[in-house]
Amino acid sequence: MSEVYKITLMKGDGIGPEVVDAAVSVMDKAASIGGFSLEYEECLIGGAAIDSTGKPLPEETVASCKSSDAVLLGAVGGPKWDTIDPSIRPERALLGIRKELGLFANLRPAVMFDELADASPVKNAKGMDLLIVRELIGGIYFGDRGTYDCIEKLPDGTPFGKVSYDTESYSQAEIRRIVKAAFTYASGRRKHLTLVDKANVMESSRLWRTETMEIAKSFPDVTLDFLYVDNCSMQLIGRPASFDVIVTSNIFGDILSDEAGMITGSIGLLPSASLGDPGKPGLYEPVHGSAPDIAGTGKANPIATILSAAMLLRWSLGKPEAADLIEDAVRSVIRSGFRTADIASQGENYLTTEQMTAKILEALK
Ligand code: IPM
Ligand code: MG
Repeated sequence: MSEVYKITLMKGDGIGPEVVDAAVSVMDKAASIGGFSLEYEECLIGGAAIDSTGKPLPEETVASCKSSDAVLLGAVGGPKWDTIDPSIRPERALLGIRKELGLFANLRPAVMFDELADASPVKNAKGMDLLIVRELIGGIYFGDRGTYDCIEKLPDGTPFGKVSYDTESYSQAEIRRIVKAAFTYASGRRKHLTLVDKANVMESSRLWRTETMEIAKSFPDVTLDFLYVDNCSMQLIGRPASFDVIVTSNIFGDILSDEAGMITGSIGLLPSASLGDPGKPGLYEPVHGSAPDIAGTGKANPIATILSAAMLLRWSLGKPEAADLIEDAVRSVIRSGFRTADIASQGENYLTTEQMTAKILEALK
């Protein structure tokens, strides 16, 4: 009997279901070529879960994820749930499941397909092959927060009224585990790690620096440098191909990964993996969101989720050959000139989500 792996699917909202369906068909074909099979359990998350259970992250969803080999997620959120109580917003589910599964390392590769150089708004993006390693379950996303009435006033006498705050805080242990992971990835690549922080202003960034310099001693073959986040956002535009691995905090990684996505031509191409301790299920999702404006129109690019499925096979199931097959198929379809709406040049014909998926399936062998 062939090996069977259990995958939890959380399709979510907007274009989530369309792109997850696409990735499932591609994963299934790669698995059948590789001689193993995948068993799926579908669970609710985000707006879809709020509508049917009142909660964005039902307990059954968490339990299913914990008992699976890996999780594939579409996207959550949409205007329908924008005005509900923030404590049950769809985005809460995303943060909740990341925390529940202990997914501290978010890997966001931003690789430029040379054929799409025209789709990039940046002139010299050719050759860009960047891996952003984003800390995912700490920092300002999970720090102390609150709102209170304040008696202070502006110099002109205007009362402050309400004050709301969020706090960035990181422990040595949290920094060490993500930085070690980043050094390990850098060792297996071009051996260049950049720590991105705001150490000229923030105390927590200074702790990231001292811890990172300490860990660097165990990775003598990796070149380490540092950039302030504002400067990094500028350098990414100016010399995108010169970066190898970036390690950074939750919020900086969130921002820089959207920027990196734009440089590759479309955020619709960017996959991600979120990993915790070895042996625990990882979670895989496209970097793009639920794009409710194009849901159901066939304009969604399935490639980010298909490449996320490849990462799932590689990192959670230990199937690098199957992952390579998928990545090669995507590359060959792009090389052959097939485009979805987001990466087509003006006036050029483009394929729908389903047509693009069919092309990738055809190329997969
Ligand atoms: C991402 C998204 C999420 C984040 C949102 C939807 C909570 O922007 O995965 O990058 O900020 O982490
Ligand atoms: Mg984001």
